[in-house]
Amino acid sequence: MPLAKYRAFVWIGLLVGLSIRCSKDITEERNAPLAFYQPSHFPPAHYQFQGNAQTEGITEIGRRLFFDPVLSRDSSISCENCHVPISGFSDPSHPFSHGVDQNFGSRNSPALSNLAWYSSFMWDGGVTHIETMSTAPITNPLEMDLALSEAVLRLNRSPYYSSAFASHFGVNEIQSQHMLKALAQFMASMISSQSRYDAWMKGNENALNAQEKEGLILFQTHCAQCHAEPLTTDFSFKNNGLTALTEDEGRGHITTLAADLGKFKVPSLRNVEKTLPYMHNASMASLEEVIEHYSSGIQAHPNLDPSLPVGGFQFSNNEKQALVAFLKSLTDDAYLQDKRLQNPW
Ligand code: HEC
Ligand code: HEC
Repeated sequence: MPLAKYRAFVWIGLLVGLSIRCSKDITEERNAPLAFYQPSHFPPAHYQFQGNAQTEGITEIGRRLFFDPVLSRDSSISCENCHVPISGFSDPSHPFSHGVDQNFGSRNSPALSNLAWYSSFMWDGGVTHIETMSTAPITNPLEMDLALSEAVLRLNRSPYYSSAFASHFGVNEIQSQHMLKALAQFMASMISSQSRYDAWMKGNENALNAQEKEGLILFQTHCAQCHAEPLTTDFSFKNNGLTALTEDEGRGHITTLAADLGKFKVPSLRNVEKTLPYMHNASMASLEEVIEHYSSGIQAHPNLDPSLPVGGFQFSNNEKQALVAFLKSLTDDAYLQDKRLQNPW
C-alpha cells in the first residue's frame, strides 16, 4: 500500500476509534451507578463525604427517600413535589413553595444541582451542611411537616427501608442521621456538568455559536463577579436591586446585621432556562424579564451591591438577546434527563 494511502487509513482508523471512545465514555457514564464525580473543569467540591463514605446502595436509598412522600405528615408530598427533575429540580408550577394542606411558603423553590460544592444552603444560607439540609423541609410546618422521630419510626416500619438500611449501613434500627446521610449521598451526586457551555470550557470551540459567545463575554463583564464561573455562583450573599425596600430580610435574618438585610445567596444559573420563575420571590417569569431587570430595573436598595448600577446596565437589544442565548447554553439535557436522578418508585 502506498505510504500516503496507508497514512490516511491510520488517520481514519484513529478518528473512528476516538469517536467510538468518546460516545462510549458518555454512555458508560450514564449507565454507571449514580455517584459523585469531580468534573475536571470544576474547583474541588466542598463536601468530601467525611464520615459518610459513598456506596451505590446508600445513594440508592437516598434517591428512594428523595422521591418518597412517606417523609411528609400526610404522606402526600415528597422532595420531588417542589424539586422536579425535568425543571432542573425547581418547581415550575408554584411561585412559592407548596407544602402539605395546601400551605404556601414565602420563597420560590430553588433549582438543585452541584450541591456538593455548596458551603451553605437556602436563599439566606440558614443551613450549613448537606447532611443536615433535609431536616429543614421535612420538619417545616409549611412544607412536609413531619417530626424527624416520626420519619424514622415510619422508615423502621417499612420492609424496604429496614432491610436496605440493615444491609447498607449495617444497623438494626434506623436513626435520623442514617436517613440524612443517605439523602446527602444522593444530593451530592446531582451533578450538572455537561451543558454546551461546559463543552466550550473543556476546549470545544464550536460548542457555542457566535451569539452565545458574545453573551458569554457580556456575562463575564457584568455578571460573573457574583455568578462566578464555572459553577455560576460564588455562594456569596448579595442584593441585586429587586426592590427598593426590604420585604424579606434574607441573609439579615440569619446574621441579624443591618448590612445583610435584603441580601440573598447568589443562585446558580445552571439549567436556568428550565427553572422559572426566577428570584427568591418568584417575581420574574422569563429570562427576558431577568435581563430587563439588570438592564433597566435595578432599584436603589441600601444594601445594593456596588457592582450593580442603580437603573441598570442599559443593554442594547442585541446584547439582551446575546445574554439570553448564553444563559440557555447552560441547559444540560444529560442532567435533566438522567434516569438515575428520577423517581425510582
Ligand atoms: C413544599 C416545597 C418543598 C419541599 C417538599 C422540599 N423543598 Fe427543598 N426547598 C424549598 C424551598 C422553598 C427552598 C428555599 C427555602 C429558603 O431559602 O428559605 C428549598 C431549598 C432546598 C435546598 C437548598 C438549595 C439552595 O440553593 O441552597 C435543598 C438542597 C433542598 N431544598 C432539598 C430538599 C430535599 C432533600 C427535600 C426533601 C427531603 C426538599 N427539599 C423538600 C421547597 C421545598
Ligand atoms: C452583585 C451580584 C450579582 C450580579 C453582578 C448579577 N447577579 Fe444575578 N443574582 C444575584 C442575586 C443575589 C440573585 C438572587 C436575588 C434574589 O432572589 O433576591 C440573582 C438572581 C439571578 C437570576 C435568577 C436565578 C433564579 O434561579 O432565580 C438570574 C437569571 C440572574 N441573576 C442572572 C444574572 C445576569 C444575566 C447578570 C448580569 C447581567 C447578573 N445576574 C448579575 C446576584 C448578582
